[in-house]
Amino acid sequence: MKQALEKIELAAKAELEKISDSAELENLRVKFLGKKGELTAIMKQMAALSAEERPIIGQIANSVRSDIEAAVTKKAAELKAEASKRKLIEERLDVTLPGKAPKLGKLHPMDVVMHEIEDIFIGMGFDVVSGPEVEYDYYNFEALNIPPDHPARDTQDTFFITDNILLRSQTSSVQVHVMEDRKPPIRILSPGRVYRSDAIDATHSPIFHQIECLVVDKGITMANLVDTLNMFLKRLYGEDAKIRLRPHHFPFTEPSAEVDIVCFNCGGKGCSMCKGEGYVELLGAGMVHPKVLANCGIDPEVYSGFAFGLGLERVTMGKYGINDLRLLYENDLRFLEQF
Ligand code: PHE
Repeated sequence: MKQALEKIELAAKAELEKISDSAELENLRVKFLGKKGELTAIMKQMAALSAEERPIIGQIANSVRSDIEAAVTKKAAELKAEASKRKLIEERLDVTLPGKAPKLGKLHPMDVVMHEIEDIFIGMGFDVVSGPEVEYDYYNFEALNIPPDHPARDTQDTFFITDNILLRSQTSSVQVHVMEDRKPPIRILSPGRVYRSDAIDATHSPIFHQIECLVVDKGITMANLVDTLNMFLKRLYGEDAKIRLRPHHFPFTEPSAEVDIVCFNCGGKGCSMCKGEGYVELLGAGMVHPKVLANCGIDPEVYSGFAFGLGLERVTMGKYGINDLRLLYENDLRFLEQF
């Protein structure tokens, strides 16, 4: 029995040598020291020994057990140390390497101006809404008092998809959607893309952006329009901003006006930017035509309204002194990084 115990100890130590991870170590521990292990099996036979032999063998068995236990504990510590060393090597970080600075993007100048304009109008109690870019003829023209044979259609070279469906040529189409969907009082601002079949040059693009404004309530007059425009443009361009209204014609407003602003560049003296005029054309405006109100189910005897539409490109170019529209679309970083 003594020999059997010594054999177990030798076998355990030999196997320990080959062990390389903690799962194998646990298997080994169970095999030799566990309740069903080899050592326990031997101990169970001790009852058969004589009274003299029993304590001697018992002592040997105990020392074999504690030797194996000590060896297992030592091996466990070694495995742990090795693992943490491996981890340190794997996760090595050279803190002396130069860092990678994240590249911060920023908003396009037209977005900057659009957000600024939205903020101004939100501050005056307007809602910002959007409308479809692919539109029915009805919303883009007919409901706005532009019947199929109306000459005003010729001024907006439209991309037709079918006879009845087109890419909207103006954000005024949103006026109709809003008046169909809401009851007065209505105060909305609607920015978005519009499309016209124009050749690209320094002041034209087949895709550009407009911002539409519509107010409908009881007792709205031209004075409200002028006051709103003044407040808006002074906030956008500063307290010196001065506007003038010129009579104009839009089928969906009556009376209609074109609104000019004193030239940002020369302050009204006349320069190349305003072509000697002292003013630059900024937007189209007017009192919502009674027929348009009626088309949208709003009683023109009870309600009146004003609307205006401005070109976002033109406002952005004026604000930053940009002289070619194409720069806004080319996405040349040398240009964009200046804003
Ligand atoms: N939709 C007109 C245009 O594109 C501008 C406008 C809007 C005029 C609202 C009057 C009222 O030219």
